[in-house]
Amino acid sequence: MTKTQIQRPLPRYTSYPPITSWNGDISEASWISNIKEHRSEEGLDLYLHIPFCESLCFYCGCNRTITKKKSRGTDLVDALLKEWKMYLDINPNLKPSSIHFGGGTPTFLEVEDLRRLLIGILGETQNSHVFKAIEIDPRVTTLEHLKLLKEFNFNKISLGVQDFSLEVQKNINRIQSFELVKDFLENCPEGLEEINFDLIYGLPGQTIETMQMTLDYVDILKPTSIAFYQYAHMPSRLKNQRAIDESLLPSLEEREAIHDLGRDFLSKNNYKEIGFDHYALEDSLLWNCEKKRELKRNFMGFTHQKAPILIGLGPTSISKSQKFHVQNEKKTENYYQFIENGKFPLIFGHKISEEDTQREGVIMELMCNGIIDTTKVPELSKKAQKEFNELLSADYGSLKDNLFTINQKGRIHLRSIATIFDGYLN
Ligand SMILES: C[S@@+](CC[C@H](N)C(=O)[O-])C[C@H]1O[C@@H](n2cnc3c(N)ncnc32)[C@H](O)[C@@H]1O
Ligand code: SF4
Repeated sequence: MTKTQIQRPLPRYTSYPPITSWNGDISEASWISNIKEHRSEEGLDLYLHIPFCESLCFYCGCNRTITKKKSRGTDLVDALLKEWKMYLDINPNLKPSSIHFGGGTPTFLEVEDLRRLLIGILGETQNSHVFKAIEIDPRVTTLEHLKLLKEFNFNKISLGVQDFSLEVQKNINRIQSFELVKDFLENCPEGLEEINFDLIYGLPGQTIETMQMTLDYVDILKPTSIAFYQYAHMPSRLKNQRAIDESLLPSLEEREAIHDLGRDFLSKNNYKEIGFDHYALEDSLLWNCEKKRELKRNFMGFTHQKAPILIGLGPTSISKSQKFHVQNEKKTENYYQFIENGKFPLIFGHKISEEDTQREGVIMELMCNGIIDTTKVPELSKKAQKEFNELLSADYGSLKDNLFTINQKGRIHLRSIATIFDGYLN
């Protein structure tokens, strides 16, 4: 295990197996029968994908469409509500225990469209027991949006911040001043359990100095949690990234130094590392979960609660039950076609085997709580067994009563360590 996560692009294991290893196995009939079996008391995570953004960030790796036409949001809400009704028609007992709006930019939607969507799913009661989270671009989120989030008792907002340096912001085509974010936070509803900032390291023009400035500003605003992502640069796949001047990208050594600066700064300023790439303020929801070793992981990142089933609505959304992973059609126009024809817009999937479930258990326990129960480790290939033996003797953790607990040094290699238990990579 010589290479760190910074050098190698490794799966993020938001679930197992990662989509790149799915076997393509899915039929609409099996998915429907699986949904029919779901009982309301089991809980359900609902994800809604809003693929629209008003302007393009050059670095963006998300599934999104750039448009200023707000009527596209209205059409999308119509389709999302129809898709949800298709699910309710096969099982009226589906009741979300959490709802996550992601994108693109959910607040691209006009307030009335977002309200229609919320009422269509939650009903007029605003279901206070449902954990509600939304991704926010502070540049396009209005006071009316914020009032709506308050009215529906949202629990978490996640802000795309990325970097506060004007030079870096120019290089990525995303101008968003410190004052804008500060004013935005001052207008946020009280009572939010979590305010998250997304930051990215490895962006064009970033240096130790610009990152220090970003971190100083972050420290003034003190969000509850921070996702500190490495910039994933894949210009051969993502056309928009070709607009980035590659000569401005920090070298591998610079990237490592910028990452280490962020990690050290956050640790010294009351943030605790959560899983990997994530930090949470002392006494926050995620911090307490990590302390009690109750952290969970799903497609939206680290979380305090996870239902046995995830239904993703909208283009590209991923759903998961104990038996299947499925993904929706990616192109918005084709997605509409499915919905118009009353068909679930599923295009790709994976039938989960017993072995997958066992391996997922080990990988998730490792990613979330830094623990490997050696009695639960599945049969490993020769290569993986060798790596596992190396891990146990390396200075990455300690073994007691069959439990291997990862230490700070090992945490940097979490994603790399997880690949040992990935049956598809080995
Ligand atoms: C859907 S966006 C967040 C909401 C909103 N669209 C915004 O940007 O403010 C999700 C997050 O993914 C991260 N992201 C997007 N492209 C990335 C890339 N190429 N590498 C690393 N992180 C990326 C950014 O931090 C971004 O905030
Ligand atoms: S980073 Fe966010 S706002 Fe920017 S293009 Fe991507 S999804 Fe849209």
